[in-house]
Amino acid sequence: MLDKIYVTKPYLPPLDEYKKYLEKIWKSQFITNSGPYHGQLESELCDYLGVKHISLFCNGTIALLVAIKALELKGEVITTPYSFVATAQSIKWNGLDPVFVDIEPKYCNLDPYKIEEAITEKTSAILPVHVYGHPCNTKMITKIANKYKLSVIYDSAHAFAVKKNKKSILNEGDLSVLSFHATKVFNTFEGGAIVSHTAEMKKKIDDLKNFGFQDQITVEGIGINGKINEVQAAMGLLQLKYIDQVIEKRNRIAELYREKLSEVNGISFLDGIKGVKHNYSYFPIFINEREYGMNRDKVYEELTNHNIFTRRYFYPLISRFSAYKNLPSAEEKNLPVAEQISSEVICLPIYPDLEHRDVERVIGILKSL
Ligand SMILES: Cc1ncc(COP(=O)(O)O)c(C=O)c1O
Repeated sequence: MLDKIYVTKPYLPPLDEYKKYLEKIWKSQFITNSGPYHGQLESELCDYLGVKHISLFCNGTIALLVAIKALELKGEVITTPYSFVATAQSIKWNGLDPVFVDIEPKYCNLDPYKIEEAITEKTSAILPVHVYGHPCNTKMITKIANKYKLSVIYDSAHAFAVKKNKKSILNEGDLSVLSFHATKVFNTFEGGAIVSHTAEMKKKIDDLKNFGFQDQITVEGIGINGKINEVQAAMGLLQLKYIDQVIEKRNRIAELYREKLSEVNGISFLDGIKGVKHNYSYFPIFINEREYGMNRDKVYEELTNHNIFTRRYFYPLISRFSAYKNLPSAEEKNLPVAEQISSEVICLPIYPDLEHRDVERVIGILKSL
């Protein structure tokens, strides 16, 4: 049996270089609570990403929770069912009601043409996701949000370093939330961040992630512990030195898949978008059973039998999970595009150290089935 190939592997920079950061941490004994690496990483990320303010977090889910809290949202929040479950969980954890709206078929993002019909008197915000790092139709979403005076939080967990017309898409909306989980393009083992536009909002977010402390004896609001530590921040600083190489290696793998899979009947993939600098965080393909001659689950099973461990992101839809399935907006008939895409998708292995011969192996099996 050939070696196992996983859908992803974390990028780990050279250990010797990381040890130098660790030695400094040991020496200073400053290991958490906004230490020097924390401040340095916030500043370097602002420069690299082209954003004004960033607040680091222990993970993307807590960052989402705090983003919702910071905007003091109420009632209903419009979101997509085609995402990782944390997107809707963060709404629920804040005691709010998610309202699912279908996605568009081209990039699998929230369909802006279907948002308005889901707005009610209770709607306070829209929480779209830049799925697979492909930018949402931010222009239309902004227009709708302005018309109905709604807040917008982008779940940008997949969208690290993605730019449109040379500008970071992380500047869209009121807040943008990143994940630095081990499986992401940029990782701090676990981690996340909120991008905000003003110093006031950054302070509010920073206070909320530190229990609500204003000073040693004053607590405002309902804070939480969302802090990242120095060991994580150091990992982020080192990752940043390699990030362009990491994205370029992913790009080459995506190109190889595109070139070779375009010949296969019944397999389609998402096109690049003109003017968008992608990060190649995922490589989803969509299996048309009739044309390919086999359904998605069978393809998934066959790949597993060949020691290739893909993932069906995003199947099942969030709207199928127990906390959500009884919501009126979760009904299948309300989400036909998401239901269809969710039944056809497989994410193929993509990570910087994936050998091209392993990519060829995946392609070879997909061609032979
Ligand atoms: C779209 C999306 N939102 C939120 C999260 C949650 O991020 P984290 O795992 O850092 O909590 C993830 C990923 O893991 C995700 O893919």
